[in-house]
Amino acid sequence: MFGSEMLTLFAAFALFHVTNAVIAPTVELNDGNKIPLLALGTGRGTAKESESVDQVRQAVYWAIEAGYRHIDTAAIYFDEEQVGKGIAQAIADKLVTRNELFVTTKLWNDRHRQEQVVPALKESLQKLGLDYVDLYLIHFPVATKSDGSLDNVDYIETWKGMEKAKGLGLTRSIGVSNFNASQIERLIAHSTICPAVNEIEVNPTLTQVALINYLQLKNIIPMGYSPFGFLVSRSKENAPPPRADDPALVKIAQKYGKTTSQVVLRYLFDRSIIPIPKSTNKDRIKQNIDIFDFSLTNEEVATINRFNKNIRVINPVDWKNSPYYPFVEY
Ligand SMILES: NC(=O)c1ccc[n+]([C@@H]2O[C@H](COP(=O)([O-])OP(=O)(O)OC[C@H]3O[C@@H](n4cnc5c(N)ncnc54)[C@H](OP(=O)(O)O)[C@@H]3O)[C@@H](O)[C@H]2O)c1
Ligand SMILES: *[C@@H]1O[C@H](CO)[C@@H](O)[C@H](O)[C@H]1NC(C)=O
Repeated sequence: MFGSEMLTLFAAFALFHVTNAVIAPTVELNDGNKIPLLALGTGRGTAKESESVDQVRQAVYWAIEAGYRHIDTAAIYFDEEQVGKGIAQAIADKLVTRNELFVTTKLWNDRHRQEQVVPALKESLQKLGLDYVDLYLIHFPVATKSDGSLDNVDYIETWKGMEKAKGLGLTRSIGVSNFNASQIERLIAHSTICPAVNEIEVNPTLTQVALINYLQLKNIIPMGYSPFGFLVSRSKENAPPPRADDPALVKIAQKYGKTTSQVVLRYLFDRSIIPIPKSTNKDRIKQNIDIFDFSLTNEEVATINRFNKNIRVINPVDWKNSPYYPFVEY
Protein backbone atom coordinates (compact mmCIF):
# COMPACT_ATOMS: atom_id res chain seq x y z
CA MET A 1 0.00 0.00 0.00
CA PHE A 2 2.72 2.51 0.97
CA GLY A 3 4.94 1.55 -1.97
CA SER A 4 7.40 3.91 -3.62
CA GLU A 5 4.89 4.94 -6.29
CA MET A 6 2.57 6.15 -3.60
CA LEU A 7 5.40 8.08 -1.95
CA THR A 8 6.41 9.66 -5.25
CA LEU A 9 2.86 10.67 -5.81
CA PHE A 10 2.72 12.14 -2.32
CA ALA A 11 6.02 14.00 -2.82
CA ALA A 12 4.81 15.42 -6.13
CA PHE A 13 1.62 16.56 -4.48
CA ALA A 14 3.57 18.23 -1.65
CA LEU A 15 5.84 19.94 -4.16
CA PHE A 16 2.84 21.15 -6.12
CA HIS A 17 1.53 22.72 -2.94
CA VAL A 18 4.81 24.47 -2.23
CA THR A 19 5.42 25.81 -5.72
CA ASN A 20 1.82 26.93 -6.04
CA ALA A 21 1.93 29.16 -2.96
CA VAL A 22 3.20 32.73 -3.04
CA ILE A 23 4.66 33.92 0.26
CA ALA A 24 4.66 37.66 0.91
CA PRO A 25 7.88 39.26 2.20
CA THR A 26 7.98 40.53 5.78
CA VAL A 27 9.29 43.70 7.41
CA GLU A 28 10.36 44.46 10.97
CA LEU A 29 8.03 46.60 13.06
CA ASN A 30 9.35 49.30 15.43
CA ASP A 31 9.01 46.79 18.33
CA GLY A 32 11.19 44.15 16.64
CA ASN A 33 8.38 41.81 15.53
CA LYS A 34 8.01 40.88 11.87
CA ILE A 35 4.87 41.53 9.82
CA PRO A 36 3.93 39.93 6.46
CA LEU A 37 3.43 42.62 3.82
CA LEU A 38 0.03 41.47 2.55
CA ALA A 39 -3.06 40.52 4.56
CA LEU A 40 -6.38 38.87 3.79
CA GLY A 41 -9.27 41.21 4.65
CA THR A 42 -12.20 39.53 6.36
CA GLY A 43 -14.39 42.59 6.96
CA ARG A 44 -17.73 42.02 5.28
CA GLY A 45 -18.53 45.58 4.21
CA THR A 46 -18.58 44.58 0.55
CA ALA A 47 -20.08 41.11 1.00
CA LYS A 48 -23.08 40.27 -1.18
CA GLU A 49 -26.32 39.44 0.62
CA SER A 50 -25.95 35.82 -0.44
CA GLU A 51 -22.53 35.65 1.23
CA SER A 52 -22.66 33.83 4.56
CA VAL A 53 -20.25 34.48 7.41
CA ASP A 54 -19.13 30.85 7.10
CA GLN A 55 -17.51 31.79 3.80
CA VAL A 56 -14.92 33.63 5.88
CA ARG A 57 -13.77 30.29 7.34
CA GLN A 58 -13.33 28.87 3.85
CA ALA A 59 -11.64 32.06 2.60
CA VAL A 60 -9.11 32.01 5.44
CA TYR A 61 -8.28 28.37 4.68
CA TRP A 62 -7.90 29.03 0.93
CA ALA A 63 -5.79 32.09 1.68
CA ILE A 64 -3.37 30.15 3.87
CA GLU A 65 -3.23 27.46 1.19
CA ALA A 66 -2.36 30.14 -1.37
CA GLY A 67 0.46 31.45 0.85
CA TYR A 68 -1.16 34.25 2.89
CA ARG A 69 0.39 34.44 6.36
CA HIS A 70 -1.50 37.52 7.62
CA ILE A 71 -5.24 37.67 8.39
CA ASP A 72 -7.04 40.91 9.29
CA THR A 73 -10.18 40.68 11.42
CA ALA A 74 -11.94 42.74 14.13
CA ALA A 75 -14.41 42.26 16.95
CA ILE A 76 -16.98 44.32 15.02
CA TYR A 77 -16.81 42.01 11.96
CA PHE A 78 -18.43 39.28 14.07
CA ASP A 79 -16.37 36.72 12.19
CA GLU A 80 -13.51 36.01 14.60
CA GLU A 81 -14.95 32.53 15.20
CA GLN A 82 -14.94 31.73 11.49
CA VAL A 83 -11.42 33.17 11.12
CA GLY A 84 -10.33 30.95 14.02
CA LYS A 85 -11.90 27.86 12.45
CA GLY A 86 -10.15 28.49 9.12
CA ILE A 87 -6.83 28.89 10.92
CA ALA A 88 -7.37 25.79 13.07
CA GLN A 89 -8.19 23.68 10.00
CA ALA A 90 -5.07 24.93 8.17
CA ILE A 91 -2.90 24.13 11.19
CA ALA A 92 -4.53 20.69 11.60
CA ASP A 93 -3.85 19.99 7.90
CA LYS A 94 -0.21 21.06 8.44
CA LEU A 95 -0.36 23.85 5.87
CA VAL A 96 1.18 26.17 8.44
CA THR A 97 2.10 26.49 12.12
CA ARG A 98 0.66 29.13 14.46
CA ASN A 99 4.11 30.67 14.66
CA GLU A 100 4.20 31.24 10.89
CA LEU A 101 0.89 33.10 10.94
CA PHE A 102 0.24 36.75 11.76
CA VAL A 103 -3.24 37.50 13.08
CA THR A 104 -4.55 41.05 13.49
CA THR A 105 -7.75 41.94 15.33
CA LYS A 106 -9.23 45.18 16.65
CA LEU A 107 -10.84 46.73 19.70
CA TRP A 108 -14.28 48.20 19.03
CA ASN A 109 -15.25 51.76 20.03
CA ASP A 110 -17.50 50.71 22.92
CA ARG A 111 -14.62 49.16 24.89
CA HIS A 112 -12.34 52.19 25.09
CA ARG A 113 -12.08 52.53 28.88
CA GLN A 114 -8.68 51.41 30.05
CA GLU A 115 -10.02 48.51 32.13
CA GLN A 116 -12.19 47.25 29.23
CA VAL A 117 -9.32 46.61 26.81
CA VAL A 118 -7.83 43.40 28.23
CA PRO A 119 -11.25 41.72 28.72
CA ALA A 120 -12.25 42.71 25.15
CA LEU A 121 -9.06 41.15 23.77
CA LYS A 122 -9.60 38.01 25.86
CA GLU A 123 -13.07 37.67 24.30
CA SER A 124 -11.57 38.02 20.82
CA LEU A 125 -8.93 35.40 21.64
CA GLN A 126 -11.58 33.01 22.83
CA LYS A 127 -13.55 33.43 19.61
CA LEU A 128 -10.39 33.04 17.54
CA GLY A 129 -9.35 29.98 19.53
CA LEU A 130 -5.88 31.50 20.01
CA ASP A 131 -3.83 32.32 23.09
CA TYR A 132 -2.34 35.45 21.53
CA VAL A 133 -2.77 37.64 18.47
CA ASP A 134 0.15 39.19 16.64
CA LEU A 135 -1.36 42.65 16.39
CA TYR A 136 -4.15 44.39 18.31
CA LEU A 137 -5.43 47.72 17.00
CA ILE A 138 -7.67 50.46 18.36
CA HIS A 139 -10.19 50.30 15.51
CA PHE A 140 -11.13 54.02 15.62
CA PRO A 141 -10.00 56.94 17.79
CA VAL A 142 -13.71 57.60 18.47
CA ALA A 143 -15.33 56.16 21.62
CA THR A 144 -18.99 55.13 21.81
CA LYS A 145 -21.25 53.73 24.49
CA SER A 146 -22.68 50.24 24.08
CA ASP A 147 -25.84 51.74 22.52
CA GLY A 148 -23.68 53.29 19.80
CA SER A 149 -24.04 56.91 21.00
CA LEU A 150 -20.84 58.95 21.35
CA ASP A 151 -18.79 58.67 24.52
CA ASN A 152 -15.96 60.85 25.71
CA VAL A 153 -13.14 58.41 26.44
CA ASP A 154 -9.75 59.76 25.39
CA TYR A 155 -7.80 57.31 23.19
CA ILE A 156 -4.74 58.02 25.39
CA GLU A 157 -6.60 56.17 28.14
CA THR A 158 -7.48 53.35 25.73
CA TRP A 159 -3.83 53.08 24.74
CA LYS A 160 -2.82 52.43 28.36
CA GLY A 161 -5.08 49.36 28.23
CA MET A 162 -3.42 48.34 24.95
CA GLU A 163 0.03 48.61 26.58
CA LYS A 164 -1.22 46.40 29.38
CA ALA A 165 -2.49 43.79 26.88
CA LYS A 166 0.94 43.69 25.25
CA GLY A 167 2.61 43.41 28.66
CA LEU A 168 0.44 40.37 29.43
CA GLY A 169 1.51 38.69 26.18
CA LEU A 170 -2.06 38.61 24.84
CA THR A 171 -0.80 40.44 21.76
CA ARG A 172 2.74 40.65 20.37
CA SER A 173 2.31 44.15 18.91
CA ILE A 174 -0.11 47.03 19.35
CA GLY A 175 -1.21 49.72 16.97
CA VAL A 176 -4.03 51.96 15.83
CA SER A 177 -6.43 52.31 12.93
CA ASN A 178 -8.08 55.39 11.42
CA PHE A 179 -5.89 57.79 13.42
CA ASN A 180 -4.79 61.02 11.74
CA ALA A 181 -1.26 62.44 12.06
CA SER A 182 -1.98 64.90 14.89
CA GLN A 183 -3.73 62.17 16.89
CA ILE A 184 -0.69 59.89 16.55
CA GLU A 185 1.60 62.78 17.46
CA ARG A 186 -0.46 63.38 20.61
CA LEU A 187 -0.56 59.65 21.40
CA ILE A 188 3.21 59.31 21.16
CA ALA A 189 3.74 62.37 23.37
CA HIS A 190 1.64 60.81 26.16
CA SER A 191 2.67 57.13 25.97
CA THR A 192 5.60 54.80 26.51
CA ILE A 193 4.99 52.48 23.53
CA CYS A 194 4.81 53.93 20.01
CA PRO A 195 2.12 52.30 17.81
CA ALA A 196 3.67 49.71 15.48
CA VAL A 197 1.01 50.16 12.78
CA ASN A 198 -1.72 52.55 11.62
CA GLU A 199 -4.36 50.81 9.48
CA ILE A 200 -5.97 53.38 7.21
CA GLU A 201 -7.91 53.55 3.98
CA VAL A 202 -5.61 53.77 0.94
CA ASN A 203 -6.62 53.38 -2.71
CA PRO A 204 -6.30 55.36 -5.96
CA THR A 205 -9.03 57.84 -4.94
CA LEU A 206 -7.61 58.28 -1.41
CA THR A 207 -3.85 58.15 -1.79
CA GLN A 208 -3.03 59.56 1.70
CA VAL A 209 0.36 60.88 0.59
CA ALA A 210 0.87 63.24 3.56
CA LEU A 211 -0.23 60.75 6.24
CA ILE A 212 1.91 57.96 4.74
CA ASN A 213 4.94 60.28 4.73
CA TYR A 214 4.32 61.12 8.36
CA LEU A 215 3.97 57.44 9.38
CA GLN A 216 7.17 56.50 7.57
CA LEU A 217 9.02 59.32 9.31
CA LYS A 218 7.86 57.85 12.66
CA ASN A 219 8.67 54.27 11.65
CA ILE A 220 4.99 53.28 11.95
CA ILE A 221 3.98 50.74 9.28
CA PRO A 222 0.89 51.71 7.26
CA MET A 223 -1.66 49.00 6.48
CA GLY A 224 -4.03 49.94 3.66
CA TYR A 225 -7.69 48.94 3.84
CA SER A 226 -10.31 49.05 1.07
CA PRO A 227 -7.35 48.90 -1.34
CA PHE A 228 -9.59 48.64 -4.41
CA GLY A 229 -11.53 51.79 -3.53
CA PHE A 230 -14.25 52.12 -6.15
CA LEU A 231 -12.46 49.88 -8.67
CA VAL A 232 -14.70 46.84 -8.39
CA SER A 233 -17.38 46.32 -5.78
CA ARG A 234 -18.36 49.95 -5.33
CA SER A 235 -18.21 50.95 -8.99
CA LYS A 236 -21.74 52.41 -9.01
CA GLU A 237 -22.57 54.91 -11.72
CA ASN A 238 -21.64 57.98 -9.72
CA ALA A 239 -18.48 56.50 -8.19
CA PRO A 240 -15.23 58.29 -9.00
CA PRO A 241 -12.62 56.75 -11.31
CA PRO A 242 -10.66 54.57 -11.67
CA ARG A 243 -12.79 51.52 -12.44
CA ALA A 244 -11.38 48.12 -13.33
CA ASP A 245 -11.47 49.01 -17.06
CA ASP A 246 -9.75 52.39 -16.72
CA PRO A 247 -7.45 52.85 -19.76
CA ALA A 248 -4.47 54.08 -17.72
CA LEU A 249 -4.69 51.05 -15.41
CA VAL A 250 -5.35 48.63 -18.26
CA LYS A 251 -2.21 49.86 -20.02
CA ILE A 252 -0.08 49.17 -16.95
CA ALA A 253 -1.78 45.81 -16.37
CA GLN A 254 -1.15 44.68 -19.95
CA LYS A 255 2.52 45.65 -19.72
CA TYR A 256 3.03 43.25 -16.79
CA GLY A 257 0.49 40.58 -17.76
CA LYS A 258 -1.56 41.31 -14.62
CA THR A 259 -5.13 42.41 -13.84
CA THR A 260 -5.92 46.00 -12.89
CA SER A 261 -6.78 44.72 -9.37
CA GLN A 262 -3.27 43.31 -9.05
CA VAL A 263 -1.81 46.60 -10.32
CA VAL A 264 -3.67 48.52 -7.62
CA LEU A 265 -2.47 46.13 -4.88
CA ARG A 266 1.09 46.39 -6.17
CA TYR A 267 0.70 50.20 -6.21
CA LEU A 268 0.13 50.09 -2.42
CA PHE A 269 2.99 47.64 -1.93
CA ASP A 270 5.40 49.79 -3.96
CA ARG A 271 4.52 52.70 -1.64
CA SER A 272 5.46 50.46 1.35
CA ILE A 273 1.84 50.08 2.44
CA ILE A 274 0.52 46.62 3.44
CA PRO A 275 -2.52 45.94 1.21
CA ILE A 276 -5.51 44.17 2.85
CA PRO A 277 -7.63 42.88 -0.05
CA LYS A 278 -10.86 41.12 0.95
CA SER A 279 -12.07 38.20 -1.11
CA THR A 280 -14.04 35.05 -0.42
CA ASN A 281 -13.50 33.75 -3.96
CA LYS A 282 -10.78 31.12 -4.33
CA ASP A 283 -9.38 32.37 -7.65
CA ARG A 284 -9.40 36.03 -6.60
CA ILE A 285 -7.75 35.12 -3.28
CA LYS A 286 -4.91 33.52 -5.27
CA GLN A 287 -4.80 36.40 -7.73
CA ASN A 288 -4.50 39.01 -4.98
CA ILE A 289 -1.31 37.55 -3.50
CA ASP A 290 0.28 37.01 -6.90
CA ILE A 291 1.85 40.48 -6.98
CA PHE A 292 5.45 39.80 -6.01
CA ASP A 293 6.92 39.07 -9.45
CA PHE A 294 6.67 42.58 -10.91
CA SER A 295 6.95 46.18 -9.73
CA LEU A 296 5.70 49.55 -10.91
CA THR A 297 7.98 52.35 -12.08
CA ASN A 298 7.94 55.67 -10.20
CA GLU A 299 6.05 57.16 -13.16
CA GLU A 300 3.36 54.46 -12.93
CA VAL A 301 2.96 55.09 -9.19
CA ALA A 302 2.68 58.83 -9.97
CA THR A 303 0.06 58.10 -12.65
CA ILE A 304 -2.09 56.23 -10.13
CA ASN A 305 -1.53 58.93 -7.48
CA ARG A 306 -3.14 61.43 -9.87
CA PHE A 307 -6.53 59.69 -9.42
CA ASN A 308 -6.60 61.07 -5.85
CA LYS A 309 -9.83 62.88 -4.91
CA ASN A 310 -9.61 62.56 -1.11
CA ILE A 311 -12.92 60.69 -1.29
CA ARG A 312 -13.47 58.01 1.34
CA VAL A 313 -15.11 54.62 1.00
CA ILE A 314 -15.41 54.43 4.78
CA ASN A 315 -16.84 57.71 6.01
CA PRO A 316 -18.45 57.40 9.45
CA VAL A 317 -20.09 60.84 9.47
CA ASP A 318 -22.36 59.82 12.37
CA TRP A 319 -19.36 60.36 14.63
CA LYS A 320 -18.37 63.78 13.37
CA ASN A 321 -19.36 65.43 16.64
CA SER A 322 -16.87 63.33 18.60
CA PRO A 323 -13.87 65.31 19.90
CA TYR A 324 -11.79 62.45 18.48
CA TYR A 325 -13.27 62.35 14.98
CA PRO A 326 -10.24 61.80 12.73
CA PHE A 327 -11.46 62.82 9.26
CA VAL A 328 -12.05 66.54 9.84
CA GLU A 329 -10.18 67.91 6.83
CA TYR A 330 -11.11 65.04 4.51
N1 LIG B 1 -9.65 49.36 9.91
C1 LIG B 1 -10.79 49.69 9.34
O1 LIG B 1 -11.48 50.61 9.78
C2 LIG B 1 -11.24 48.95 8.10
C3 LIG B 1 -12.29 49.47 7.31
C4 LIG B 1 -12.66 48.78 6.15
C5 LIG B 1 -12.00 47.62 5.80
N2 LIG B 1 -10.98 47.12 6.60
C6 LIG B 1 -10.27 45.86 6.24
O2 LIG B 1 -9.82 45.92 4.91
C7 LIG B 1 -10.36 44.83 4.17
C8 LIG B 1 -10.56 45.19 2.72
O3 LIG B 1 -11.38 46.31 2.54
P1 LIG B 1 -12.86 46.20 1.92
O4 LIG B 1 -13.44 44.90 2.31
O5 LIG B 1 -13.56 47.43 2.30
O6 LIG B 1 -12.68 46.29 0.33
P2 LIG B 1 -11.68 45.78 -0.80
O7 LIG B 1 -10.78 44.71 -0.33
O8 LIG B 1 -11.05 47.00 -1.40
O9 LIG B 1 -12.72 45.20 -1.87
C9 LIG B 1 -13.37 43.97 -1.66
C10 LIG B 1 -14.28 43.72 -2.88
O10 LIG B 1 -13.49 43.49 -4.04
C11 LIG B 1 -13.80 42.23 -4.62
N3 LIG B 1 -12.54 41.67 -5.11
C12 LIG B 1 -11.52 41.19 -4.37
N4 LIG B 1 -10.48 40.84 -5.16
C13 LIG B 1 -10.84 41.10 -6.43
C14 LIG B 1 -10.20 40.94 -7.69
N5 LIG B 1 -8.96 40.45 -7.77
N6 LIG B 1 -10.87 41.31 -8.81
C15 LIG B 1 -12.14 41.81 -8.73
N7 LIG B 1 -12.79 41.98 -7.57
C16 LIG B 1 -12.15 41.63 -6.41
C17 LIG B 1 -14.42 41.41 -3.51
O11 LIG B 1 -15.33 40.46 -3.99
P3 LIG B 1 -15.12 38.85 -3.79
O12 LIG B 1 -15.03 38.60 -2.32
O13 LIG B 1 -16.33 38.26 -4.42
O14 LIG B 1 -13.83 38.52 -4.50
C18 LIG B 1 -15.14 42.49 -2.71
O15 LIG B 1 -16.40 42.78 -3.30
C19 LIG B 1 -11.64 44.47 4.93
O16 LIG B 1 -12.08 43.18 4.62
C20 LIG B 1 -11.17 44.63 6.36
O17 LIG B 1 -10.42 43.50 6.76
C21 LIG B 1 -10.60 47.79 7.72
C1 LIG C 1 -7.30 65.00 13.35
O1 LIG C 1 -8.21 64.77 14.41
C2 LIG C 1 -8.41 65.87 15.27
C3 LIG C 1 -9.42 65.44 16.32
O2 LIG C 1 -8.85 64.61 17.25
C4 LIG C 1 -8.89 67.08 14.52
O3 LIG C 1 -8.96 68.20 15.41
C5 LIG C 1 -7.98 67.40 13.35
O4 LIG C 1 -8.52 68.43 12.56
C6 LIG C 1 -7.81 66.15 12.49
N1 LIG C 1 -6.88 66.39 11.39
C7 LIG C 1 -7.22 66.22 10.13
C8 LIG C 1 -6.11 66.38 9.13
O5 LIG C 1 -8.33 65.95 9.74
